[in-house]
This record gives sequence, structure tokens and C-alpha cells, in this order.
Amino acid sequence: MSMTNKLVLIGFMGTGKSSVAASLSEVLNMPVVDVDAHIVENAGKSIPNIFEQYGEEHFRNLETQSLSSILKSNEPVIVATGGGAVLKDENKVLMLEHGIVFLLSARPEVIINRVKNDANRPLLQGDVEKRVYELLEKRKNSYSFANYTIDTSDLTLDEIVKEICHLWSKNLVL
Ligand code: S3P
Repeated sequence: MSMTNKLVLIGFMGTGKSSVAASLSEVLNMPVVDVDAHIVENAGKSIPNIFEQYGEEHFRNLETQSLSSILKSNEPVIVATGGGAVLKDENKVLMLEHGIVFLLSARPEVIINRVKNDANRPLLQGDVEKRVYELLEKRKNSYSFANYTIDTSDLTLDEIVKEICHLWSKNLVL
């Protein structure tokens, strides 16, 4: 397995990528770069504004640009991606080339419970439950490229972090 200094978190919206990244950052003493935050900072606009003004395709292009510049830097870093960062093959190649990829998964009802009442996710506006099921179906094969998968549905944050740290350290000594 390749030596790498980037830990990449992928997963559907509401699978806990941001909280897990923050907690891992403390335990592993590594900084976090959040791809969505990077996009917002560079564009000077919120995610809902980018979707509304320029559409999803434009957002996906910004996402690839951000992901690429984050992954190509030399810094050891935890990369928290957006749920749709897995939709382009070139993004998957970048993630596997530059990092160890951890998929956080969760049962649909757990996801729905976590993302309902969230105005910051343009793809989940309207009937949230229906949208989650539709997108999960559409993306059912998009996340399987990960090096490791953790079903977070019945785990505490500490348990998830412990599991990732264990896999990460195993990976570093191989
Ligand atoms: C998206 C997920 C969001 C954000 C954007 C699109 C998606 O990130 O990138 O709203 O297509 O799944 P989170 O997974 O952090 O919510």
C-alpha cells in the first residue's frame, strides 16, 4: 500500500463527515480541510447561492478544483469532502492517488433524521425523505471505491474515531 499523509472522508450527506473530521483532527493532531468550506471561501458565496446562481454543474467544477488543490498540496491533512464529490471519476482517482479513503455510511432513516430541517443543502430541499431515497438510489455504486467503510448508524463519535485511527495507523505501518 502507498505511503500517504492524507486521510480522506467520503459519504452521503448526514453521515457525520464534518464531526468525525473535527474529532479525528484532535486525536491525530492533523489539520482538517473541508472541501465545501474551501469552495465557499474561494467563490465568496454560500453553497445554496452557488447552486441557485450557477447551477449544480458549475458547483461540481468548483468542487473538483478545490479537491485537486487540497489533495495535491504536501501537507498532512484530513480532507472532509461533500457527499457528491464521488460523482466524478476524476475525483475518485485523485482521492485514491493522494490519500486513504474512508467511507462513512449510515442507514437512510438515520441520514434523514440528521439532515431534516437543513436549509444549507440545496439537493435536499422540498420533500427531504423522498430526496434522500432518490439520491441514495442514484448514488448506490458511487461510494464503493473507498479503501475502508464504517457504518456509523449505531456507533458513537468516539467509536467511529477510534476505528478510523486504528485503520489509519495500520495503514501507515504497512
Ligand atoms: C452535496 C453535499 C454537500 C455539499 C452540496 C452537495 C451532495 O456536502 O457539497 O450541498 O451532492 O451530496 P455535505 O455532504 O457535507 O452535506
